Amino acid sequence: MNFLKGLFVVLTVALLSGTAAAADKAIVIYFSHAGENNGVGYVQEGNTAKVAKTIARRVNADLYEIKEARPYSPKFEACVGQAKEEQRRNARPAIAGRLPDLSSYKVIFIGYPIWFGDCPMIIYSFLEKENLNGKIIIPFCTHEGSGLGKTAQNLQRRFPRAKVVQKGLAIKGSIAQRDPRMTAKSVEMWLKALKIVK
Ligand SMILES: Cc1cc2nc3c(=O)[nH]c(=O)nc-3n(C[C@H](O)[C@H](O)[C@H](O)COP(=O)(O)O)c2cc1C
Repeated sequence: MNFLKGLFVVLTVALLSGTAAAADKAIVIYFSHAGENNGVGYVQEGNTAKVAKTIARRVNADLYEIKEARPYSPKFEACVGQAKEEQRRNARPAIAGRLPDLSSYKVIFIGYPIWFGDCPMIIYSFLEKENLNGKIIIPFCTHEGSGLGKTAQNLQRRFPRAKVVQKGLAIKGSIAQRDPRMTAKSVEMWLKALKIVK
């Protein structure tokens, strides 16, 4: 329901901020790679995108997709090669389009696929352009075995004056891609555990 989008989401943030409850506006920011991927074949929409949209729908948050200016190959091996090279160079690949104005958001969900145990370098491009200090940052990822790795701790180190939820959500990409019910259930249980929804 579109009219709900952009409304102030009531999030119980006792756990997160020490306050009893607050009305905080939320946005779900994500990067996701469509095309050929681990165990799911060729897909129109990436695995993380599916989780991002599930979260955004559930908490009536806005959505922002981080898109690369120079597209990664839709072919798996070629994409792996590009990504590996970027990680080796600690590159900051350019982002296509405008960055979001995050000034009105208190809660930032940020989602990414795990690439070589870490975030894709384009997430670092984004994080270097946005100051998330003072925000509540809630990470989530899709992966094929690594889980979140140290990405939540790294986010906290990068933004010491943000509250980074360390219990981020990690969903297997193949489940996110193929099983929307299981994905919605995992998202629901996670949001409940964080006391974001009842
Ligand atoms: C370049 C690349 C590197 C990857 N590295 C890992 C990894 O280190 N650990 C892991 O569990 N999965 C890894 N994967 C699998 C992805 O994390 C997984 O398929 C994810 O769901 C992809 O999400 P997306 O469709 O949103 O891009 C990698 C995939 C790619 C393309």
